[in-house]
Amino acid sequence: MKLPYAEPYRIKMIEEIRQSTPEDRAKWLKDADFNLFNLKSSQVFIDLLTDSGTGSMSDRQWSALMTGDESYAGSRSFQELQETVQRITGFRFLLPTHQGRAAENVLFSVLVKDGDVIPGNSHFDTTKGHIEMRKAHAVDCTIDEAFDIENMHPFKGNIDLEKLENVYQQYPKEQVPFCLITVTCNTSGGQPVSLENIKAVKELSDRYGIPVYFDSARYAENAYFIKKREAGQEHRTIKEICKEMFSYGDGMTMSSKKDGLVNIGGFVALNNEEVFRQASNITIIYEGFITYGGLAGRDMAALAVGLDEATEFDYLESRISQVEYLGAKLMEFGIPVQKPIGGHAVFVDALKFLPNVPREEYPAQTLGLELYKEAGIRGVEIGTLLADRDPETRENRYPKLELLRLAIPRRTYTNNHMDYIAAGLKNVYDRRNEITKGYKITWEPPLLRHFTVKLEEA
Ligand code: F0G
Repeated sequence: MKLPYAEPYRIKMIEEIRQSTPEDRAKWLKDADFNLFNLKSSQVFIDLLTDSGTGSMSDRQWSALMTGDESYAGSRSFQELQETVQRITGFRFLLPTHQGRAAENVLFSVLVKDGDVIPGNSHFDTTKGHIEMRKAHAVDCTIDEAFDIENMHPFKGNIDLEKLENVYQQYPKEQVPFCLITVTCNTSGGQPVSLENIKAVKELSDRYGIPVYFDSARYAENAYFIKKREAGQEHRTIKEICKEMFSYGDGMTMSSKKDGLVNIGGFVALNNEEVFRQASNITIIYEGFITYGGLAGRDMAALAVGLDEATEFDYLESRISQVEYLGAKLMEFGIPVQKPIGGHAVFVDALKFLPNVPREEYPAQTLGLELYKEAGIRGVEIGTLLADRDPETRENRYPKLELLRLAIPRRTYTNNHMDYIAAGLKNVYDRRNEITKGYKITWEPPLLRHFTVKLEEA
């Protein structure tokens, strides 16, 4: 018999979580203006809001915290981090930041200006926010297969080279500061980008003289999928694949809260000395001196260890198999999910799940609220609320998919939790035909509305 995967660690410390009653939850939701971000964590039993900064650190990471060097300049922990980033990514220069969006701010402050166009594969919302804030435009060049949830394409994060070349032909080089490849692609369902595609994007971009940058939040998970799914890659180590992946880029932004296996942090890593010099000034203004960038020395020490642990195959096998386990359970129940199952989350298709809720009443948000009411589980809407309004017309932007994301924190829950989540969602699925009404907005901010929007029952 083939031995199944099992976690390559055992649990040394636990944190209590508490159940609540459906009555409690109905009241708490009303108090939270039907926005799951407004709930207190104590009101949530299983928290799948995000896999960002919510994972568990290892004993090696916790001990690294104790030896962190808190020097303002030239910290040893910075040097350890820089050595690790250079070894894994090959990028020469490192600027730590307090998280991923801060890395975007640092890099984009240097590279992006009014009227620019930044092609990529379904830019993440803060990334798009940082682009649009500078009156530039993000152009989505993801392959069409990504938007058909049944399509089993192994690399649904891939960039469509024809769409990309159209951008390069339509705009002068000066207006396209870089192409951004997001690995894995969060917005289209935690879907990977193949090494072949990354290489082809690099070759095409080189021909037009346009740099390539990575949004690397989940780069190790992307490398795992390359190893598992791409011909000729199965015998390589994750670290070898990462090194090659990054060799096709000019730099990266990183949210260390994902594949850095830490609770806070980010960085920019790059090769171009002039960009580094300018980005250093921005770092000093917004983050801190260039050898700590808004982090404590101990944060950098734990991150250096985390980057190494996250690029080990056994860790990734157990991490991604758990997400797959939940996805398989949901599929067994006939629940419509994005296929193949992504790296960090299962994405439930709310338009198929709740066909009776009108699009204007936010079906994915409605599904998230129903799941919370049912079982105390908190997911997150990846749909019309997240897609925000068109900056010019101020009309709702209806994305191709309306999804409820169930993001699985790293090394945090067991498969019993996965069974509980699947059962909770099945109970909602069994009563889906009775759910005919969604929600309407009572207040929203001008940008990134899903974090703070207020809603009422429609
Ligand atoms: N890029 C991607 C692909 C992301 O998923 C995120 C964050 C960021 C950049 C920004 O990083 O949070 O450290 O500032 N994603 C989280 C999520 C919030 O829930 O998917 P950050």
